[in-house]
Amino acid sequence: MTGTRLQGKIAIVTGGSRGIGAAIGEAFAAEGARVVLASRKDEELDRAASEIAARHPGAVRAKVCHVGRPAEVAELVAWVEREMGTPDVLVNNAGTNPYFGPLLDATEAAFDKTFEVNLKGALACTREVVRRLVARGMPGSIVNVASVMGLAAAPLQGVYGMTKAAMVSMTRTLAVELGRSGIRVNAIAPGLVDTRLSAALVTNPELRRAFTDRAPLGRHGEPAEIADLAVYLASGESSFVTGQTFCVDGGYSIA
Ligand SMILES: NC(=O)c1ccc[n+]([C@@H]2O[C@H](COP(=O)([O-])OP(=O)(O)OC[C@H]3O[C@@H](n4cnc5c(N)ncnc54)[C@H](OP(=O)(O)O)[C@@H]3O)[C@@H](O)[C@H]2O)c1
Repeated sequence: MTGTRLQGKIAIVTGGSRGIGAAIGEAFAAEGARVVLASRKDEELDRAASEIAARHPGAVRAKVCHVGRPAEVAELVAWVEREMGTPDVLVNNAGTNPYFGPLLDATEAAFDKTFEVNLKGALACTREVVRRLVARGMPGSIVNVASVMGLAAAPLQGVYGMTKAAMVSMTRTLAVELGRSGIRVNAIAPGLVDTRLSAALVTNPELRRAFTDRAPLGRHGEPAEIADLAVYLASGESSFVTGQTFCVDGGYSIA
């Protein structure tokens, strides 16, 4: 452990097996939180948890969960409560982007899958965590990982952009509805970050430049640069912050 900013917190990070979610799990553990990483595939998930646990013994557990399946979400949160206590931080990070192409050509299957995971999954996780916090009169922090693609036009990523725009809306609405319960809800909108999800963009020079040439900082981001903001939003340092969406994008969204 290197810090204490999240000491005493119990956090669930969905999509925690790699990329931005794994970086958030690592950063949370480093600040004293007890963390549950959740994703669909146990092998990669266990590997991520073991790597973090090697640096932060006892800080991290892994639990398989497909966030698009409400029964698995309910089981995840019930398991965390049983094993560790009521989770007071939730990072809705699990995400997918199965279709790249014109919006009007997207199949219904791609449309449904993207909404099921990116939006309905986040809402289901939030519902399970929040109802426990409210029942116990506990404060909490929900952090939604949206995208700059949800803040403006998202050519060739239209379905994905729609889910992220809806997530920003969901963030605002839940912030209003849960504020009096002491539960804060905020979103992070990353720009291009080097992960498996974005590999097709990062490794294609032309597509990558479409992002990096526009961004004032002239580069893509790394997962740890998203995790730093997640720590702030999960911690008491952001106690007066709710309903907001923060771009972490090298300035892409203002250019
Ligand atoms: N990379 C970028 O440029 C970028 C930019 C803006 C926003 N984002 C957002 O950042 C978040 C993390 O993405 P990433 O870039 O770190 O991608 P990634 O490396 O591909 O990680 C995605 C994670 O989500 C999990 N996941 C996928 N479907 C799931 C499901 N149905 N249930 C539970 N877990 C699931 C994956 O694990 P399993 O395969 O084991 O399920 C994995 O842990 C996403 O919400 C993404 O939209 C990324």
